[in-house]
Amino acid sequence: MAAANTAAIDGLLCWCRAGFEPELAAELSARAAQAGFAGYARAQRGSGHVEYLGVDGAALSAALPYSTLIFARQKLRLLAELHDLDPKDRIAPMLAALAPLADGGRACFGDVWVEHPDSDAGKPLAGLARAFANALRPALRQRGLLTAAASAKLPRLHVCFLAGDHALLAVADPHDAAPWPLGVPRLRMLAEVPSRSALKLEEALLVLLGDREREVLLQPGMTAVDLGAAPGGWSWVLARQQLRVTAIDNGPLAASALATGLIEHVRADGFHWQPPKPVDWLVCDMVESPRRVAARIAQWFAQGWCERAIFNLKLPMKKRWEETSLCLDLLHAQAGRELHLRARQLYHDREEITVFAQAGQSPPPPAGEGWGGGRSRAGTLPPSPPSPASGGRRPKRSAGAD
Ligand SMILES: C[S@@+](CC[C@H](N)C(=O)[O-])C[C@H]1O[C@@H](n2cnc3c(N)ncnc32)[C@H](O)[C@@H]1O
Repeated sequence: MAAANTAAIDGLLCWCRAGFEPELAAELSARAAQAGFAGYARAQRGSGHVEYLGVDGAALSAALPYSTLIFARQKLRLLAELHDLDPKDRIAPMLAALAPLADGGRACFGDVWVEHPDSDAGKPLAGLARAFANALRPALRQRGLLTAAASAKLPRLHVCFLAGDHALLAVADPHDAAPWPLGVPRLRMLAEVPSRSALKLEEALLVLLGDREREVLLQPGMTAVDLGAAPGGWSWVLARQQLRVTAIDNGPLAASALATGLIEHVRADGFHWQPPKPVDWLVCDMVESPRRVAARIAQWFAQGWCERAIFNLKLPMKKRWEETSLCLDLLHAQAGRELHLRARQLYHDREEITVFAQAGQSPPPPAGEGWGGGRSRAGTLPPSPPSPASGGRRPKRSAGAD
């Protein structure tokens, strides 16, 4: 057998946008601590991933549903780390590492994805990952580790190459993970789209809403306001769903947006304009301080001007996780009514996150939906628990405890 240095490891592996590892590490650390886990994050800036170690990975994974994570594109549970892989035979050491999971001939994985970080160092590994997946699949089947046909009923094996001779083995629960390789949904950009920003709202509707919610909440004839609308990408996405949109911006709208016949352009300041009557949707992509945007969105809910909103919080500052938490808390505090929030740094987001806010009680997951159906629901976010300083400390749970 080819020599390789293999170590079993436990914990979580999450993909993220390269450069946002500190935010994801801070988020995982804060969320794990809130749930009573005392582990530590291993992260390198620009690497496109974060490991959270020193914990019972299965228990922590259960405590942090993928749908509630903001900066993670994918959530996996770690199994093993392999160094010094021989390029002539990378398969044998992986089979050896997985052998303890063999279940008397019953397959334990319903699928296998071979991946690499979405980073400068990781992207050149795409060719290796593709070829390796083709070679690994039959070898796993031969060992009885993988089902003959892909099945979402069983965990999915992830082989994550960090370098040609360095890989992590991990596992995903298909019902609690992104349904796209690398956690990246591929969207097609139509020729008439007024701006690339349109892809952000397209992705937000796909990722932050369930299939049934999209049907119910986006119906022809519904009304929307788009604050900071120019050149009109977000308004155009809503108009394509047959919503009637009031687009607020002092800048001009693209002809393709106006050609929908469903968008009224109002040249006004998005921080002062008020709707003559309540609307179904508020969307907002104004480039402004995130606290100012959060306060403005909260005001719309407090005044009853909208029932739901999708908006971006731009995060050009250093402490982005802290700013994110602060803005979401501010929304809860200032909305004056119960607010249900889901948030995610989308693939098409850059230095920003996208938030879905809905007034009223937390809607239950749509029946029969979720990750297993090939569509995602993301980020159900309760307000932050009281800080330790205000007496809200929860008992710490030792790593590995139930
Ligand atoms: C990122 S662009 C929006 C792109 C748009 N979502 C799209 O899909 O085409 C930000 C827009 O916000 C507008 N904006 C910034 N501050 C504003 C304000 N106070 N009132 C209205 N619009 C504002 C800018 O004029 C700019 O057109």
